[in-house]
Parts: sequence; C-alpha cells; structure tokens
Amino acid sequence: MKSTQLFQRSILATAAVLAFAAHAGEVEVLHYWTSGGEAKSAAALKATLQAKGHVWKDFAVAGGGGDNAMTVLKSRVVSGNAPAAAQIKGPALQEWAGEGVLANIDDVAKAEKWDSLLPPVVANVMKYKGNYIAAPVNVHRVNWLWASNAAFKKAGAKVPTNWDEFFVAAEALKKAGIIPVAHGGQNWQDFTTFESVALGVGGADFYKQALVQLDQGALTGATMTKVLDTFKKVKSYTDKNAPGRDWNLATAMVIKGEAGMQLMGDWAKGEFVAAGKKPGADFTCAAAPGTAKSFTFNVDSFAMFKLKNEANSQAQKDLATAIMSTDFQEVFNLNKGSIPVRLNMNLAKFDDCAKLSANDFVATAKNGGLVPSVAHGMAIGSATSGAIQDAVSQFWNDDKMSSKDAQAKIASAAKVK
Ligand code: GAL
Repeated sequence: MKSTQLFQRSILATAAVLAFAAHAGEVEVLHYWTSGGEAKSAAALKATLQAKGHVWKDFAVAGGGGDNAMTVLKSRVVSGNAPAAAQIKGPALQEWAGEGVLANIDDVAKAEKWDSLLPPVVANVMKYKGNYIAAPVNVHRVNWLWASNAAFKKAGAKVPTNWDEFFVAAEALKKAGIIPVAHGGQNWQDFTTFESVALGVGGADFYKQALVQLDQGALTGATMTKVLDTFKKVKSYTDKNAPGRDWNLATAMVIKGEAGMQLMGDWAKGEFVAAGKKPGADFTCAAAPGTAKSFTFNVDSFAMFKLKNEANSQAQKDLATAIMSTDFQEVFNLNKGSIPVRLNMNLAKFDDCAKLSANDFVATAKNGGLVPSVAHGMAIGSATSGAIQDAVSQFWNDDKMSSKDAQAKIASAAKVK
C-alpha cells in the first residue's frame, strides 16, 4: 500500500478516535450496591456504560437499604455537588424532582418507547409531571423466605407456607442446634420483616389500608395487634449477635447452613448466586409465610441530575438508554436476584425463583395482591416511612414494650409529614 494511503488511513483512524473521545463523557453514579451480588450487578452497569465509550465514576455508599446513601446524596446536592446519576426510588423521585434538580429524559424514553415497555405501575413512578426523570433497572420482590436445604434436612423441618408452620419449623431448627432465623438488626431490615408479617397475617387489603393509606382504624385495630405479636415472636428465633448485622452476612449464615431461614427481598438471591448456590439444590425460595398470593414490589431506579457539560449529559442519556436495553436487563438481573422491569423479556436464562417472581408479578397485578414495598420506599413519603420504620425497630429491640404500646407509636408515626 502506498505511503500516502497509509498516511490517509492513519489520519482517518486518529480522527475516529478523537471523535469517539470527543463524544465520550463521564457519568458519576451514586449508589449503595456494595455486597457480593450487588457489586457484581453494579459492575454490569459500569461495563455497559463503558462499552458506549463513556467513563463510569463510581460513588458507592455502603449500607444496605440505602439510608446512608440518601443522607450523603442530600449533603452533596445541598452543597451544589450533585452526581450525574443516583439510585433513588419510588415517591422520593417526586420529592427530588420537586426540588428542580433532576433532568428530563423524555427524549430517551420516547426514542426507546418506554411507555410500551414498562408496566404502568412502574412507568408512573419514573415520571414527574408526565416527564421521565429516572430509568428503572429491575423489579425486586420483597416478600420472600430463603431456606437452607441442608439445615431443614438436618432438622427434619418443612419449608413453611404460613406463620403456624413457620414457628413449627423454627422450633425444629432450634432443637437441631441451628439458628432458626438469620436477621440483621438494622431498622430497614426490621421494617422489611415487619411488612412481610403484616402482609402474611393481614392480607393485601389490610396491608394497603394500614401501610399505604395509613388508615388509623387499620393501624389501631385488632389485626395490627396480631401482626405485632407475630412479629415479636419471629424475633425470639433470631440469635444474640443479630443487632447491627448487615443483611448479606445474615444471608451468608443461611448459605452456610448455620441458620435455617431469612426473610428478605430477592437481592438475597444475588448472594446465593454469587456464592455459586443453586435454587432447589442448595436453597429454597418461597413466598414469605401467608403471602403466596401477594407481591411486594421494589423497583430500583437511577435518577438523572441536571448537568451543564454537554458530553456528560449525552453520556447520562446513553446510561438511561443502556439501562432499559434487553442485554443489560438480562445480565444485571441475573446477578442482582431481581427480574427485568422491561416487559416481554425472554427469561430462558433465569432460574425458577425468578420465573415464579415474574409469574406472580403478573398474577398479583390482576388479583389485587400487588403492593408497593413500604420498607423500601415504594409507597409513602420518606419522612413518614422513616418515622414508622423507627417505631417498628423500637418495638423489635425493646422486649418490654407491649404490642399495644408499639401500635400507638406506629399509629402516631404514620401522621408524621
Ligand atoms: C434495597 C434496594 C435493593 C437492595 C437492598 C439491600 O433498598 O432496592 O437493590 O440492594 O436495598 O441493599
């Protein structure tokens, strides 16, 4: 090849690289995915963005459930140093959008036809005054029970379907010298267990009345007393080292068979998968006792903050596009333990727990059993849910407090605005 041709070709190649570099932007992403399965999922998102030629600037804030991350985010935004994208969910998206700090990503949503790809219950949460301001990554189910097959075999116990069976299994595990319930004593984890007990004891309609509509009659009624009695009984089967324990360390106890069961959302499955464990063979996923006909949904999403830099705004839009792509929806959710939020995804690579979750998500949307997770910020304002969460934890941690006293505290916490 003549030298002039070689020279021209190298010019073109350099131009292409420069154009690519010129196009490249940076997206700083604030999130709280630091456990084994969570970190693998965040890495999938990072790889997806980098494949588009952009830089992922990681800003991970440790602390399951995200309370720490939201505190850090608030201080960054107040000091005028917002990240480009942040893991914000549910009604909190409306609260942030109301502050005028979130970018409108309607152009991406329209180009990618999100309205036809998302369940309306999800699309509505991602919008502020009709405009998309966040991209959803998944649908987590929160009302799960995770059981160690080895522990249940050793105890000769049966995976429970209702609370009576739950306590029979707990007694058998205890007798076999196994910690019946793996729990992490942190407010959000106590609240996660509480909402599954409320759903299992009271049913979906009671759950909606009490924890979504915050109806004082439901909050102060006999069903809530029964919920709190059951909740406190669950506590009696946890171990003395539970206070302060991170959720994924509780999951690790079930993975190792040191504990028999954990009540937790299916991000726990991300830990089993990251540890090479298989549903059916090593562990069992079952609806939390009494909740098989219900589904507490928790949708993770990334809100996009207003940016001045054009290249970074483009990178932000490319991140939003990537998040809803079929490839990302598959690889992320296989690692995360959740199911794709995008409709009509091929679930061939997903395991039986995910397939059960996907079927139940559709079935409960029809039978009225689909309810927003209150513990994970899907239903009520963050001030109110924070106050209820604290009242619930106070009861969990105070063995002298009666269910009636706790009920009064929760009912008044529900009035916090
Ligand atoms: C939830 C979040 C999940 C999961 C969990 C534990 O609030 O939506 O993605 O990571 O916290 O950190």
